[in-house]
Amino acid sequence: MIDIHCHIVFGVDDGPTTIKDSVRMILEAEKIGVDKIIVTPHYKKNVYDSDKVVNNFYKIKSRVRDFGIDLYLGYEVFLVSSINDVLLQKDKYTLNKSKYLLFELPFDIMPVGINETVLKLHSEGIVPIIAHPERNMYFAKNMQKFIEFIETGCLVQLDAASIVGIHGSGVKRFAKKLIDLKLVQFVASDAHKPEDYEIFKKAYDIVKNWAGKEYSDKIFTHNQKVIIAPPILSHS
Ligand SMILES: [Fe+2]
Repeated sequence: MIDIHCHIVFGVDDGPTTIKDSVRMILEAEKIGVDKIIVTPHYKKNVYDSDKVVNNFYKIKSRVRDFGIDLYLGYEVFLVSSINDVLLQKDKYTLNKSKYLLFELPFDIMPVGINETVLKLHSEGIVPIIAHPERNMYFAKNMQKFIEFIETGCLVQLDAASIVGIHGSGVKRFAKKLIDLKLVQFVASDAHKPEDYEIFKKAYDIVKNWAGKEYSDKIFTHNQKVIIAPPILSHS
């Protein structure tokens, strides 16, 4: 499996505080069969200090050099307050310097003008991926608004914990509905601690049960490969 959303970098957000804990998370990920991880510290202005992200990321990378796991850098961007920063430094905030941007919205409201913000990102060549919309109460109560929103050109990433039921039965029901409707492109761990990788594996098994192995592999592994290694055009 490939994880595209997790908080493994120590000392920069609400994830681990020491490099030892970062390494423990990576060991747990490896144990359940994850071999590539895009780490995504929160980028939220005036809440988290992002100055140490790059430095701490490379410290972890060199510590796990001999593990069977590849690490890449990205962010989980709180879009409402960060759109201007993203547009100024696209390569810095997208996932692994790709065209894909992982972003989150407030859990309880739909920000004014958000559809226009997504269209603006597209016009700048960025493909936005919304993180855990199943946890957004506004979307859960307004399915039609959610569909209109993703039709502006947003890909969808669910959290493993939502599928397992950790965020409540309503969130789990909404997650299943999105999977049943095949509106999901990615499931990620959104791990903040080592134990969260066990949940990622459980979520894979649940989705396999709900939608079959082929679909489960697609949204836990195959779609993610496009972000890590974009396909190269050839003459054929
Ligand atoms: Fe997250």
